[in-house]
Parts: sequence; structure tokens; C-alpha cells
Amino acid sequence: MFSSRLLLFCGKGGVGKTTLSSAVALTVAREGRRVLLISTDPAHSLSDVFERPVGREPVEIERNLHACELDTSLELREYVEEVISTLKETVNPEVLGRFESLLRSAGSAPGAEEAVLLDSLSRRIPRLLEEFDCLILDTAPTGHTLRLLREAIRSGEWLEELLKRREKIYRLRSAAEGVRKEDRVIEVLRGRRNRLSRLLRILSAKETLFVPVLVPERLPLLETSRLVEEIESMGFRIGALIVNKVLPAQVRDTFLKLRKEQEERYLEEVRRRFSRYRLLRVSLRARDVSGAEELLELARDLREF
Ligand SMILES: Nc1ncnc2c1ncn2[C@@H]1O[C@H](COP(=O)(O)OP(=O)(O)OP(=O)(O)O)[C@@H](O)[C@H]1O
Ligand SMILES: [Mg+2]
Repeated sequence: MFSSRLLLFCGKGGVGKTTLSSAVALTVAREGRRVLLISTDPAHSLSDVFERPVGREPVEIERNLHACELDTSLELREYVEEVISTLKETVNPEVLGRFESLLRSAGSAPGAEEAVLLDSLSRRIPRLLEEFDCLILDTAPTGHTLRLLREAIRSGEWLEELLKRREKIYRLRSAAEGVRKEDRVIEVLRGRRNRLSRLLRILSAKETLFVPVLVPERLPLLETSRLVEEIESMGFRIGALIVNKVLPAQVRDTFLKLRKEQEERYLEEVRRRFSRYRLLRVSLRARDVSGAEELLELARDLREF
């Protein structure tokens, strides 16, 4: 798993995606590979983990390790401005005036954030894969990430259709009017379609692995089942499942003994449901994990079960 080119940590809110992706990124960097840790979660926490500002451009955390956080709302505003300026070249100012405020409010439409994040990832990931040996994505909780992946597949199909129609209209028009000017809209659509299909190829390549993280409790387990199923139905690969925050083997307290019994049942259920995957576990620490040493120690604790 540590030798793959792109790792995507995913799972329910609060299970340890940020902590574990940071721990693995640090481990891979210490082994001498150049790593970039990317957060796509709007609730950014890489800056909290590394206790320093992390922005949208990669910053060096230590030798071989860089990190960045994508700011979807900023990217969304920039994207709307870009669409408006493209339209300025093709649409007359009066029509544009009417559309402009509509377009600006489209920023809050459902799916807008996903579309923009996807465009941003499709522009960056191929370039970053050339620059770094390994990219590690700390993704937003399950719902967001699945919406993003569905959007990738759906908009690929949708762009293809849109492009076909536009090309047809353009062919008819240029035959009728004898114009041979390049169509800017076709150019933009083609660019987007090509970037998106490249991203989808990268996501389904065998060097790309999804790493669902869960804790041994009922709801995370159910959510992970749906997550794993959907990831595979989209044609992506699962590298390993990580069960985080597992209690120590020996507990004395009656309360903890009851929790441990419940946990054993869930661990058994994990083994049963996910027997075809590599299963790793990490134990619960007495305190929150912070600082490089504790992160490295956490990654060393990853073991099969
Ligand atoms: N094995 C562990 N032992 C003890 N504490 C842990 C462990 N793993 C994670 N934590 C703590 O649990 C909290 C949540 O972890 P983290 O922020 O990594 O989860 P997340 O899945 O990224 O959450 P979100 O979905 O909100 O982004 C943090 O305070 C972290 O320090
Ligand atoms: Mg997180």
C-alpha cells in the first residue's frame, strides 16, 4: 500500500482520516519518497495536525513531505469569474449583463462545489503526479466524497453529450454560413472532458488505492459497507481497510470490558464482511495524536488482523 502512487483515505466523519493519512504520509516521506498530502475536506485540519499554516499551494512540512488544502469556496468564486470572462468573448454585453448575476448565484447551486473541486483536481493531479512520488488525499467524510466521485462519472458522460451537440450545431452553421472560426465553447468543453477522463483513468489505475477508515462501531461499519460497494462499482480499487481506535487487548474496568466485548463483535463482523480485503488495525491512544513522533508511532502500529 505504501508504495502506490495515489492513496485516498475516506470514511465517516471523525474516524481518523486526517490523522492516519498524515501518519502514512510522514512515514512514506521518512522512507525517502517525495510525498504530497492533499486535503479536499472543506473543514481543513492539516494545518492543525502540523501546527502551521497550510494553503492551496504545497508547503514543505519537512524533507520529502509537502501538504496543501484545496479551498473549494475560493475555487468556486474563481471558476464563476472564469466562466463569465469566457462568455464575454462570445456573448454580447447586453445578454451577458442579464446572465452575470444568475451565474454568480449559481455558485450556491447543488453540485457546484463538487464540479469545481473536480475541475481543480483534474487540473492538478496529473501535474502533481509528475512532481511527487506519492500523493495522499485526505478526503471529506463519505457523503461528500461519494458525491464527488459520482459527479466525476456523471459529468464525463454529460460533457460528451454536450460536446456532440455543440459540434453538430457548429458543423451545420459553418456549412451554412461558410465560417471557419474556431468555436471557443467547443474548445472549453473539450479541455474539460479531456482533463476529466484523464483523472478518471488515474483513479482507476492500479497504482491508485482507496483506503476506507472506520472505527469498530455499528454506524461506521454500515457506512463502510456502502462506501466499499460503491467504490468498487465505479471501478476503483480498495488498498486496505483500516479499523482505527481499537481498545487495548487487556482492559480491567467493567465499563471498558463491556465496550471491548462489543468491539470484538464488530471486529468479527469486519472480518466477515470484508474478508476479501487487506484488513489493518490501529489501537486507541490514551490521548489525541499530535506531533511527528506520535504520528510515526501510529503508522508503525498499523497491523493486520
Ligand atoms: N488511534 C487514535 N487514538 C487516539 N486518538 C485518535 C486516534 N486516531 C485519531 N484520533 C483522534 O481522533 C480525532 C479525530 O481524528 P481525525 O480528525 O483524524 O478524523 P477525521 O476522520 O479526519 O475527521 P473529519 O471527518 O472530521 O475530517 C482527532 O482528535 C485525533 O487526534
Ligand atoms: Mg479530517
